[in-house]
Amino acid sequence: MTLASRTFLVFTDETTTESALRAALPSSASLRFVSLYDAFDSAGRIVTETAPDVVLVSCSSNPQWGLRVIGDIAAVQPSRPVIVALYEGSPQAFMEGAFRAGADDLVTLPQPPDQFAFELQKVIARRRGPSSDTRRGAMITVLGPKGGTGKTVTSCNLAVALADSGARPVVVDLDLQFGDVGLALGLRPERTIYDLITSGGSLDTDKVGRFIVHHPSGADALLAPTRPDQAAIVTTDFVRDVLTVLRKTYDFVVVDTAPAFSPEVIVAIDAASHLCVVGMLDALSLKDTKIGLETLAQMGYAPEDITLVLNRADTSVGISTSDVYELLRKTPDVLVPSDRAIPRALTNGSTIYEADAKSGAGRAFAGLANRYLELTGARDLDASAEPMTLGDASNGGLVRKRRLLRRGI
Ligand SMILES: Nc1ncnc2c1ncn2[C@@H]1O[C@H](COP(=O)(O)OP(=O)(O)O)[C@@H](O)[C@H]1O
Ligand SMILES: [Mg+2]
Repeated sequence: MTLASRTFLVFTDETTTESALRAALPSSASLRFVSLYDAFDSAGRIVTETAPDVVLVSCSSNPQWGLRVIGDIAAVQPSRPVIVALYEGSPQAFMEGAFRAGADDLVTLPQPPDQFAFELQKVIARRRGPSSDTRRGAMITVLGPKGGTGKTVTSCNLAVALADSGARPVVVDLDLQFGDVGLALGLRPERTIYDLITSGGSLDTDKVGRFIVHHPSGADALLAPTRPDQAAIVTTDFVRDVLTVLRKTYDFVVVDTAPAFSPEVIVAIDAASHLCVVGMLDALSLKDTKIGLETLAQMGYAPEDITLVLNRADTSVGISTSDVYELLRKTPDVLVPSDRAIPRALTNGSTIYEADAKSGAGRAFAGLANRYLELTGARDLDASAEPMTLGDASNGGLVRKRRLLRRGI
């Protein structure tokens, strides 16, 4: 269904939101505006009476009222509409409250009309829910709220280590604007997800396979567009469908993401069988990791469902395991030490796992791969990971690399 055939109910007191919506939506879309203040105690009732497809709550000027209204609407059952919070300002600060109140998504303003329409379309598409196709392989979505924490390094090393264990992994670069999985793996972007979507036709295993690039380790990759402007064409529906197809073919789909809860990243979170949060061991990064974990908790993912990788986990920083636990309420599952060999390997288009599997970092990524092989029942538990403390980081945290003897899982 297109935006033109949707009915929108908009709670707002902001004239800028009203004009932005009128500019973004087709004239045939049904738009009804209600003052945020009028709705204060009756938003749920108004929604029941008007039965819109989508409710937008714009509340930059008064977030507290907005959150009350969102909560009131979220309580409406059973035919609850899609609830989208619209916000002007820093999304991080507001996002937590919006999700907790019951918003399905958050769209930040201002945006050019085309982009705004696109964001709304994505939000509505996301609500369609997970595909009913039967899944096979595991899907690990690698996340981190900040850039530079080591998501790409983790995704690539994990994929290569999984391949080395005999599994069949594919890395999907969902950092659609600034993806660098190709660079990290030394792969030329001759074919990317952009070429896949522009090639048209229906998606099936053969079709997607023609746009996959192969890494000598045995890991495959679906690379990000080569230019940021090409990212806009990649819809959330398309991302969901591609991930579904890949899971039918591969043992592990490892999804590298952009440092944001963008619509395609939210799709990759919803579709994942496992989440891997990558944070860094310093005070500022830990604060961001905490916000990221809280946001995931509001989306319904408990800390115990998430693997926490702490990168650059050197004892010299002066932060102990108990400090980390105190702040995050979660013990890191894998510790990766700082190692200059990592950027050096990256410059050569190689992973630390390939360059020096015996290094602390190489062994940490082997430990991460082992953890997923165990979680998916793909390896014997007698080689299970050992508990660790921050003092173990120089030894690679969770380690004990062991090749799986059987190929395929
Ligand atoms: N443990 C580490 N030790 C040294 N350098 C690292 C480590 N982890 C990541 N880096 C470097 O930090 C930079 C950012 O890593 P990257 O994986 O691209 O982060 P993200 O994908 O989260 O933005 C890269 O240049 C990488 O080489
Ligand atoms: Mg990255």
